[in-house]
Amino acid sequence: MSGPLILSIESSCDETGIALIEGERRILSNVVASQVALHAPSGGIVPEVAARAHLRWIVPALDEAWQGTGATWSDLDGIAVTYGPGLAGSLLVGINFAKALAWVHDKPLIGVNHLEGHVYAGWLLDPGEDAAARPEPIFPLVALVVSGGHTFLAEMRDHLTYRLLGTTVDDAAGEAFDKVGRLLGLGYPGGPAIQRAAEGATRHDVRFPRAWMGDSYDWSFSGLKSAARRVVAEARAAEGLPADDPAATLPAATVAELAWGFQDSVVDVLVTKTIRAARDLGARSIILGGGVAANAVLRARLAGEAEALGLRLVVPRPGLCTDNGAMIGAAGARRFAAGDRAAMNLDARPSLPLARR
Ligand code: KG4
Ligand code: ZN
Repeated sequence: MSGPLILSIESSCDETGIALIEGERRILSNVVASQVALHAPSGGIVPEVAARAHLRWIVPALDEAWQGTGATWSDLDGIAVTYGPGLAGSLLVGINFAKALAWVHDKPLIGVNHLEGHVYAGWLLDPGEDAAARPEPIFPLVALVVSGGHTFLAEMRDHLTYRLLGTTVDDAAGEAFDKVGRLLGLGYPGGPAIQRAAEGATRHDVRFPRAWMGDSYDWSFSGLKSAARRVVAEARAAEGLPADDPAATLPAATVAELAWGFQDSVVDVLVTKTIRAARDLGARSIILGGGVAANAVLRARLAGEAEALGLRLVVPRPGLCTDNGAMIGAAGARRFAAGDRAAMNLDARPSLPLARR
């Protein structure tokens, strides 16, 4: 083994994630028990259902995480766990589990901010992946994290230090995808469904508004959501569809065009501000993370603009952009190396910020 071996636990939202990370970057195993199917019928996450599902899956996920790694408890250097932000009941399941394991096996406990985990996914290497083929992010950098719960842009001049540049003043980008996905009758989660629907668009002239928020690095998606609601209502009226019957859906071609227009607007504001920040601050690389980073159009456009500026863009593969244990291990390993240790009274912090301005 080379470098510290960290067991990491993520349960802040609707994925139960357990991973083993070696030497700060290398994934030995990364098990994610997804609750997407469980929450799909209600069109969103029901906190108590999520917490109970973590309770159900956390031990099987741990058992699976050890399998095939050749590692044992005695090889382990520390146990990292997400302590916020997230759903209190869900966080408590992971934190309590981590504490019990740390106590029983006499290992240090490391508390990790979920948002820091999304940033550190940018350092991860898959098992067997060539480190040279996946260069590390270089400082100074800007990190854009876009998920169902969060949308923020931060500057990093070194490991584990952040300056918040901008955030959403209302909905998170992923939340906007989810809400508009529902409006379009595409189900939950809306992000992947909108991307798929937009791929089928033959016309690309629908234009949704962009909230530029002056020259700040902040975003606002509530106006876009209202515009989408209005446009969908108009399209339904034009088709003679009842306003409140979800079973009566718009023609696929209309859904595709509206999905394309919405996605175009979100991607435009995210990319424009991130690139401007990178230029303003003299960044050498950009990290893109969070569930919305799985969006192919966002990835492609940011890649194109970063390349034109000679900036290194680091985007984890989609499975490491959505919630997982490995990203908590990557951040936890850095915190472990920096001497960070959590006390046994570690508590859930549902609104834990990454950094202040
Ligand atoms: O990071 P994540 O798994 O959970 C949170 O911490 O929120 O992000 C989930 C969010 C959901 O809103 C989902 O719709 C969005 O990420 N998402 C996408 C795509 N895949 C997932 N949004 C746009 N395009 C995608 N391909
Ligand atoms: Zn997340």
